Amino acid sequence: MPFSTVLVTGCAGFIGSHLCERLLRDGYRVVGLDNFDPFYPRAIKEANLAAFARHPHFTFHEADLRHGPAALPAIAVDVVVHLAAKAGVGPSVKDPASYLENNVLGTGHLLEWMRQGGSSKLFFASSSSVYGNAPEQPFREDVNTLATCISPCAATKLAGEQLVHTYHHLHLHKLDALNARFFTVYGPRQRPDLAIHKFARRLRAGCAPARSFLYSATAARPATTPTWPIPSTASPGACATCSTTPACSKP
Ligand SMILES: NC(=O)c1ccc[n+]([C@@H]2O[C@H](COP(=O)([O-])OP(=O)(O)OC[C@H]3O[C@@H](n4cnc5c(N)ncnc54)[C@H](O)[C@@H]3O)[C@@H](O)[C@H]2O)c1
Repeated sequence: MPFSTVLVTGCAGFIGSHLCERLLRDGYRVVGLDNFDPFYPRAIKEANLAAFARHPHFTFHEADLRHGPAALPAIAVDVVVHLAAKAGVGPSVKDPASYLENNVLGTGHLLEWMRQGGSSKLFFASSSSVYGNAPEQPFREDVNTLATCISPCAATKLAGEQLVHTYHHLHLHKLDALNARFFTVYGPRQRPDLAIHKFARRLRAGCAPARSFLYSATAARPATTPTWPIPSTASPGACATCSTTPACSKP
């Protein structure tokens, strides 16, 4: 095992809780940090933590990165995985200030704690949102993200990447760091604001999303097996195979 103690910021979140479980299962010691940011309910985050909170190799610190390096544990760790952030592109348009505070200031404080001896290895969770309105798909890492980044959330992630890069150089490469741009992550415990989670919640509540979806093979069917004439129940100009579902009032 190349290192043994890992600090996971944002450990009570969706990805953080999966990472902690995995690290503990693989025999690492894990120091978890989270401030239970109210972006979604604390109860969900406590449930995320429940599976491993009592593991003998897990220590939890309820702390807020915005409060500076002194808020971080007074120990040294081998690696830091920095997942703590205010996530979500849409909400960041309504509340950019809290994204700046948590994602830029918080990341700056973490880096300062690392420089002061906390650790010399960092994995930073950035986001594919930095590709924003890049015209070419699939996205390329060498696209000019200064030009493509078009949301406050993405801008704070890009600033985080830049801070990590700066600390790497400023301190004579004594900070080994990796900026990783996650695309939409899905799976159990997914953040409740994400689309797949919303769709699943509505389906479980017995109602289909207000928007209709058409499976690709079904969409192709009229072209191969046409049924003429189009049934009279279909509205003028509508495709006979495209049904509409009633809108769901549930969130
Ligand atoms: N889930 C995705 O699809 C996705 C995609 C791209 C990037 N990311 C990035 O991955 C990381 C984890 O995402 P997630 O989906 O697990 O989000 P999440 O909201 O479930 O987890 C983030 C955790 O960080 C904590 N946190 C926020 N601000 C903090 C602060 N100032 N101090 C301490 N803790 C704080 C929150 O309480 C939360 O538990 C984030 O950095 C996010 O930007 C996620």
